[in-house]
Amino acid sequence: MQASITLQALIEEKIQAVRFPANPANLYDPLNYFMTLGGKRTRPLLTLLGCDLFGKPGESAVNAAIAVELFHNFTLIHDDIMDEAPLRRGMSTVHTKWNENIAILSGDVLFVKAFEFLSNNDVRFLPQLIAVFTRTAAEVCEGQQMDMDFESRQDVTIEEYIEMIRLKTSVLLGAALEMGAIIGEASEEDKRLLYEFGMNVGIAFQLKDDILDLYADPEKFGKQVGGDILSNKKTFLLLTAEQNANSTQRSELKKIMDEFAGEKKIEAARNLFDELGIQELAMDRMKEYYAAAKTAMDKISVPESAKQELLGIADYLMNREV
Ligand code: IPE
Ligand code: IPE
Ligand code: MG
Ligand code: MG
Ligand code: MG
Repeated sequence: MQASITLQALIEEKIQAVRFPANPANLYDPLNYFMTLGGKRTRPLLTLLGCDLFGKPGESAVNAAIAVELFHNFTLIHDDIMDEAPLRRGMSTVHTKWNENIAILSGDVLFVKAFEFLSNNDVRFLPQLIAVFTRTAAEVCEGQQMDMDFESRQDVTIEEYIEMIRLKTSVLLGAALEMGAIIGEASEEDKRLLYEFGMNVGIAFQLKDDILDLYADPEKFGKQVGGDILSNKKTFLLLTAEQNANSTQRSELKKIMDEFAGEKKIEAARNLFDELGIQELAMDRMKEYYAAAKTAMDKISVPESAKQELLGIADYLMNREV
């Protein structure tokens, strides 16, 4: 993990150096606030390692990496409005600390800032980078819309759920890696395989996110525990519980989701899920996608030793507590 540690430091340094104007303060203060709250910086690291994988210094992809992280942070600011989330990275969300209009507009300007960083890439790579970035940004919006539409639907299938998380989350991990591979001048086939690796890691990553949402240690998590239950999110946990419940448990679950509120709702759902062994089933599914990711990585035509950093990151993401 040596390369990752150096590259993480580079990412943090570049992010801290991103400057926003002083005025209007209500537009830019939220961004100075949000960008210093930390976060795992997973996606930019994937971009740098995606470049490094093909023998070109990870540093060459730093502008693309920062573009990806700024875009991700924009999606979080807007996601927190949509999910009515009070906490992010252990601190107040932008729309609760300021207000929703401010969170919308500061998110928008962060999206623009992401394009500024994207444009600072070698002109040889720009057409490909822009194509991947814009396609991915639209897909994330599609996934986010599906996520919200599912809140009020009662017939969501596991298959639809997987497609929704593929769009809202995993395409960005895939794109982060692919952008690194573009700058690393990988072959078309290797770019495709690395994207496939990222997509599968991304689906596993969102399954883990859904597990943590209900089972994380509130002291470490930095987000509200139980938020998905409160907003009736059709997560893998809820859909699997509905599928595996007997008729008594199914009506109990329906009552919990329709009539309970607050901590009581979270507690009751967690108890019922525990009865059904839902956390384990979600972990099993997560491991299946992780295995598919490894299969894609196996086929990439670089030495096995070069793959270890990325496999290490994927491993860390599966075992994370935040
Ligand atoms: C949160 O992403 C949003 C999801 C797609 C689940 P991260 O878990 O990567 O959030 P940070 O950037 O580390 O805070
Ligand atoms: C978020 O999914 C995906 C995007 C931000 C695009 P979640 O809503 O589950 O992410 P968290 O849990 O709030 O970080
Ligand atoms: Mg959301
Ligand atoms: Mg959310
Ligand atoms: Mg979540």
